[in-house]
Amino acid sequence: MSSGDFETYFQRRARRFASFYSSEPVARLLGRGPLFDRLQYAIETTTALSAERVLDVGCGSGPLFVPLASHGIHVTGIDPAEAMVALARSQAETVPGLVTVERRGWEQIDETDAYDVAVALGVFDYVGDPVALLTRMGAAAEHVIGSFPAPGARLMLRKLRYGARGVGVHGYRADDFDRLASRSGLVVVDRTPLGRAGSAVHFRRGDPGAR
Ligand SMILES: C[S@@+](CC[C@H](N)C(=O)[O-])C[C@H]1O[C@@H](n2cnc3c(N)ncnc32)[C@H](O)[C@@H]1O
Repeated sequence: MSSGDFETYFQRRARRFASFYSSEPVARLLGRGPLFDRLQYAIETTTALSAERVLDVGCGSGPLFVPLASHGIHVTGIDPAEAMVALARSQAETVPGLVTVERRGWEQIDETDAYDVAVALGVFDYVGDPVALLTRMGAAAEHVIGSFPAPGARLMLRKLRYGARGVGVHGYRADDFDRLASRSGLVVVDRTPLGRAGSAVHFRRGDPGAR
């Protein structure tokens, strides 16, 4: 899978994907509760760290912006899909001065220590080289938060649905995270299950003794 397919997929479906956030009760009824659970995980973890600057990788329509900005946190949202960037910019306008949106993909993250936390929700699902993404995020911020789908029947259905449109979907087992972390210069601080959908994971730089 090229990241071009991943980008194109969400370019075409930006409004539909953004609409999943319009009602949490409806989303939960439709089995999309993990979208809200992973947002909550990222918000709670980020605020508990007293973060001031956050990089939101693959920010989509910007569902993290207002919750983080309401804590005074500055957010930089990046996404390569033009239609997502347009939605994210509208969202950013509701919290003036706190959110910057840039049209670029994770492959163009080249900052060092520019943020306290780098978050990627719903992105590792589509990335064939998660170590490369974790490594870039870990260079940009000391703390890294990601959501990761679990293998299983649910993922198989997604693989079929997205695969038909040229987009690869990748699953992660609970015992993958320590290995991924060590190959990326990170350690796992916390892993929280998101029901059958997978896990939200908080990594940080450094050795396990620093946890
Ligand atoms: C499933 S959506 C998640 C959006 C948002 N993080 C959320 O939780 O609602 C995945 C997002 O990743 C973006 N994306 C596609 N290719 C990307 C890349 N190379 N780097 C970063 N993000 C990418 C898509 O445009 C899309 O907005």
